[in-house]
Amino acid sequence: MAGTGSVSFHGSAVPADSFLEDVIAGLSRPRKSLPPKYFYDARGSALFEAICTLPEYYPTRAELALTAAHAESIARFAGDGCQLIEYGSGASTKTRLLIGRLRPAAYVPVDISESALRGAAARLAAEFPWLHIRAVTGDFGRPLAIPAFGGEGRKVVYFPGSTIGNFSREEALAFLHMTRGQVGPGGAMLVGVDLKKDPNVLHAAYNDAQGVTAQFNLNLLARINAELGGDFAAERFAHYAFYNVRQGRIEMHLASLARQAVNVGRHRFSFAAGETIHTENSCKYSVEEFQALAAQAGFRGEQVWLDAEGLFSLHGLVAA
Ligand code: AVJ
Repeated sequence: MAGTGSVSFHGSAVPADSFLEDVIAGLSRPRKSLPPKYFYDARGSALFEAICTLPEYYPTRAELALTAAHAESIARFAGDGCQLIEYGSGASTKTRLLIGRLRPAAYVPVDISESALRGAAARLAAEFPWLHIRAVTGDFGRPLAIPAFGGEGRKVVYFPGSTIGNFSREEALAFLHMTRGQVGPGGAMLVGVDLKKDPNVLHAAYNDAQGVTAQFNLNLLARINAELGGDFAAERFAHYAFYNVRQGRIEMHLASLARQAVNVGRHRFSFAAGETIHTENSCKYSVEEFQALAAQAGFRGEQVWLDAEGLFSLHGLVAA
């Protein structure tokens, strides 16, 4: 097979989510919160890329290192000629390491952003001219209709980056269950999961010395101002991130530095001094804990790969 690659685009009837409705609902709760998916506008995505290169933020480096070190074995797990479905594909540096080894029959990146998909698809098509790319625009957080491509091998969902950590444990279980249905009998999943470790290491990763994570968190307020007519004063809020040992998760909040009122369009919200908006959870799992969760969702944990320092895990799950 040479020079026969192809790229096609497929919609999956994504009901557009409403930034305004989600912000109003989140700020109206007794404990204010905002969904982390809204971090990623153009500036937020650039800030996240910057976070990934920070000395304190080990997850990206660790996952990249483990993927490079074990690419052969990971590819063997997925199997030649599989249909590789990636959720939230983004920049896809790790995916490129795998595609060369794996030679999938088709690569199916699923992302909410059509422009991100077009960029990634064009780059991958240029790098792997033999690859069949079937890009799907959609929200992998909801039941998703992936077009049946037919006769293209077992389905393997690739979900790197510990994005699964943004879900609560109950949501992660529901998500794994949904994915189990998606891949069908004989299907598999490769999930990147950040590990539990010294809380000081976790704390530092979300409280970097340069303050990039703080900018990333505060950018959510700038985005609300720009897109929804908000009047948040960024200097009256502080980035606040800590490891919640009991829940096994990093929590990011924006803390109000004064008693104040903020308007978003026609809506007005009051803040007590020290009150916070909970903006993100990043759940951490031991290997055993994650395998137990996967088992509840109908997957058998077949393999686990770790980086040399034991900071990050990649789970190879097969439909039980
Ligand atoms: C992209 C969700 C995996 O939780 O570590 C990085 C996002 N937030 N620094 C994470 C994030 C603050 C990241 N995930």
